[in-house]
Amino acid sequence: MIRMPARLPAGSKVRYGGDYNPEQWPREVWEADYAAFDLASIDTVTLNVFSWATLQPDEDTYDFALLDAVVERAVAGGRDVVLATSTGALPPWLAHRHPEVERTDFQGRRHVYGQRHNACPSSPVYRRLSAELAGRIAERYAGTPGLVAWHVGNEYGGFDGGCWCELCAAGFRDWLRERYGTLDRLNDAWNGAFWSHTFTGWAQVVPPNMLSEHWRGPDHTAFQGITLDYRRFMSDAMLANFRDEKARIREHDTSTPVTTNFMGMFRPIDYHRWAADLDFASWDNYPPGQREHARMALAHDVMRGLKDGAPFWVMEQTPTITASRDVNPLKRPGMLRLWSWQAVAHGADAVLYFQMRQSKGACEKYHGAVLDHAGRTDTRSFREVAALGAELDTLGDAVLGARTPARVALLFDWDSWWAAEMTDGFNRHARYVDTVLAYYRALWQAGAQVDVVPVTADLDRYDVVLAPMLHVLSGDVAARLEAVVARGGSVLSSYWSGRADEDANAYLMDAPGPLGPLFGVRVEETDSAEPGVTNPVTLKDGDGGGPDGDVVSPASLVFEVVVPQGAEVVGTYGAEFYAGTPAVTRHRPDGRDGGEAWYVATALDDVGVAWVTRRVLDRHGLVGPYADVDDVELAVREGADGARTAFVLNHAAVVVDVVAHASGTDLLTGRRVVAGETLRLEPADVVVLREETPR
Ligand code: GLA
Ligand code: ZN
Repeated sequence: MIRMPARLPAGSKVRYGGDYNPEQWPREVWEADYAAFDLASIDTVTLNVFSWATLQPDEDTYDFALLDAVVERAVAGGRDVVLATSTGALPPWLAHRHPEVERTDFQGRRHVYGQRHNACPSSPVYRRLSAELAGRIAERYAGTPGLVAWHVGNEYGGFDGGCWCELCAAGFRDWLRERYGTLDRLNDAWNGAFWSHTFTGWAQVVPPNMLSEHWRGPDHTAFQGITLDYRRFMSDAMLANFRDEKARIREHDTSTPVTTNFMGMFRPIDYHRWAADLDFASWDNYPPGQREHARMALAHDVMRGLKDGAPFWVMEQTPTITASRDVNPLKRPGMLRLWSWQAVAHGADAVLYFQMRQSKGACEKYHGAVLDHAGRTDTRSFREVAALGAELDTLGDAVLGARTPARVALLFDWDSWWAAEMTDGFNRHARYVDTVLAYYRALWQAGAQVDVVPVTADLDRYDVVLAPMLHVLSGDVAARLEAVVARGGSVLSSYWSGRADEDANAYLMDAPGPLGPLFGVRVEETDSAEPGVTNPVTLKDGDGGGPDGDVVSPASLVFEVVVPQGAEVVGTYGAEFYAGTPAVTRHRPDGRDGGEAWYVATALDDVGVAWVTRRVLDRHGLVGPYADVDDVELAVREGADGARTAFVLNHAAVVVDVVAHASGTDLLTGRRVVAGETLRLEPADVVVLREETPR
């Protein structure tokens, strides 16, 4: 089991503030900015995210005058500082003088200069100069009063997830030599016997992109093993950049926590491979739409899972609009508050913005900010920002450091994500995150507290483990899932699980591979259909009962034809030549009183997924008190002293009355709530209930 202890910045409340780039406007404006920050209870500013060109105007010159002034002003204003290393965007002189620092894209085109996230991670010049810059910044600013965290780089992989240049090719070959030792083992892992791909020299290996193994794009590769290894290598190459900088910071500052801002469920980088190197996790929350509460909750939980459940930070969110989408709608009144509290509810100990004031120019000049171009504080959005700041002040340290008492684990696995989505032969419309989210949404609606964890996590502490679309099955995962069931727990998995080993080669056995004995099934064939085509699956619990009786769930996309090998049938297809055969099964290896292994062989609709998930949770008493109230979320944090704080969040646009699940005090209003009373939730309402310990 891999343990991921966290070291979080010290503090006395949930931090509030964000990216602040005053280099772009005159000093007088800085004064107005800080006056406004006071009005909004802003306590933390992230400085210096993209200033490399100013800090180092040429290869031999460093100039910290402007950053000194920026930092001094923040300190004078009593703000805590997150100091970034400015290595997320190259200065023009660097690309001009050393063109090899520029990345080569997936099409194989070496870029000349422009944008950001533009460095080749394998470039020795980039590695030397970025580490040098981080070291000099650390040397100069270590010990600054109020310096609470270091922010290395920015959104690694943010461009299109990497570089495919000659330097990276060389790095990839080294990485492969390290992993495989011999070409025989490499050829075996990549199944080189297919299409005459037996490599007889390391130099023959080239990065998989549109000039080599790929067609149509990143998901279409002739060799999943090659692309999978390249993604792992690229994750590691960028991680090496982070490590370079962190090491230089640590030469001057041995204790201030170091992080970088992740992007939640971001496919190009396996954040689990990075987790051990971060002191704490942080991420940028930009939901793709207005009704994404379950998806955001999942992303928060993925981030919390990086460090064994320790709190994380929301490093960025927008107070109003993003700028990068084709259509950029405003957050509706109340949404900023609701979504910020949702983050805290899921373990965030900081809620920060991008950005404190709008850029003057370039592509983010219309991106939302705490302060607009006019610097107004009498706007709707500023009032909402300030009101939230006041609430966070009111909350104080009540949940700081508190964890989530989850009995349910959901496995999240980048290898499975990568392999499932780049594999020919199934259905390109069935996506990994959609599948995971379908199950997560059911857990979320049921009010189960969930840890989203890597496949290497300790599963002993969970009653229920869900492993949807666990396409790549490696190591001892099957055995550890079996252990959950052996001690009376429940495990659930879905179609396409256990298909491939860690090289993305198929197991030479029945699907779901080594998971077969656990689920008591074998998959004989796999059918697929275009989106919109459905097959009605009747779900019937032979045990009887269940709040909703039998249901018919229109299933779609993937239909595995399953032959039970000890499992009982719970759901049955209603159409096609496999009508009447199992679509959902339950295996009870130790009889009715033992553990259960559920296998869902198709993409049930939300009702079907909820039906199955609720049964699994029910058995362990893990259905929450608001499970039957649509769009009302319950998330709990528990302090080291056992104090429980329940966040009740109304994501509905209507007033909802619920029956309070516990007695306690709403920490935001001071109102006492008695268990059993009617709790009225206004649209987008938030109740932060410090529960009384029942005697
Ligand atoms: C990211 C970046 C920021 C900014 C915002 C805009 O999260 O880290 O620099 O570009 O997006 O949404
Ligand atoms: Zn490169």
